[in-house]
Amino acid sequence: MADRDGNINAKDYGYDQPQQVEGFHVKGATQLDFGMRHRLARIFDPADGRTVMLAFDHGYFQGPTSGLERVDLNIVPLAPHADALMGTRGIFRSVIPASTDSALVVRASGGPSILKDLSDERIAMDVDDAVRMDAAAVAVQVFVGGEHETQSVHNMTRLVDAGYRTGMPVLGVTAVGRELTRDARYLGLATRIIAELGAQIVKTYYCDEDFEQVTAGCPVPVIMAGGKKLPVEDALDMAHKAVDQGAAGVDMGRNIFQRQRPEAMIKAVREVVHGGMKPAEAAQLYRDLSDGAED
Ligand code: R5P
Repeated sequence: MADRDGNINAKDYGYDQPQQVEGFHVKGATQLDFGMRHRLARIFDPADGRTVMLAFDHGYFQGPTSGLERVDLNIVPLAPHADALMGTRGIFRSVIPASTDSALVVRASGGPSILKDLSDERIAMDVDDAVRMDAAAVAVQVFVGGEHETQSVHNMTRLVDAGYRTGMPVLGVTAVGRELTRDARYLGLATRIIAELGAQIVKTYYCDEDFEQVTAGCPVPVIMAGGKKLPVEDALDMAHKAVDQGAAGVDMGRNIFQRQRPEAMIKAVREVVHGGMKPAEAAQLYRDLSDGAED
């Protein structure tokens, strides 16, 4: 009918096209509410389900860490290369431009400094403030096997409850004390407990043996923690192995911001995580982008 075809006011119910809702690219998140999924989609790239998160929350327990003395100078230029920024609300509000496109993952636990028992944390922010900041997730340490294990688990479960009320995902961080071994048995235990008790994302260390058991046994995305600074190619190799063995990305700090050329490093990490680049090639990319810097 000419009238109907040509008139934009004519009603079209699209009888021949059933309404489609996209599937969801984040592990374990298919049955979550819209707001939570919308936030997770800011962290994990819908194109590949992976993330490059830049961690610079170290000051919450150890003050002006090497490489983070001036977050405005050292971290702000890296932000465009990160899918997500992990920091404290103090640094986000005082230093990070509100115009940033990166998702914000806000540290929500704290208390003890490096001078005390780190496992004795409490919830350090109200989830309403994370909503106010337009955070994409809140982060909490969980000290499985630590002196204050139960308290730290309780911190997380309270944040998970608050997160469900507000649509705010929780990133549970496996905080491994010096006395604990970072092997697949321990990391599998810790990551699984964190996911079972409700976190939507888990951050943990890589281990050389059986890391795929850790990721397979965790029903939500595991992102690899960076840890202390390694040689460039070793850090890229670790990131490569982690995503190859099921991690949904990385959350790296010192291995990026303590480099001679942090911007070159985060670009190399991105190529590994999102582009599937091999570690040797990515290490060469780092050197090429940084006038031959080796560190
Ligand atoms: C780790 O548990 C804390 O969140 C750290 O402050 C930070 O994320 C560690 O980053 P990295 O070990 O890669 O320097």
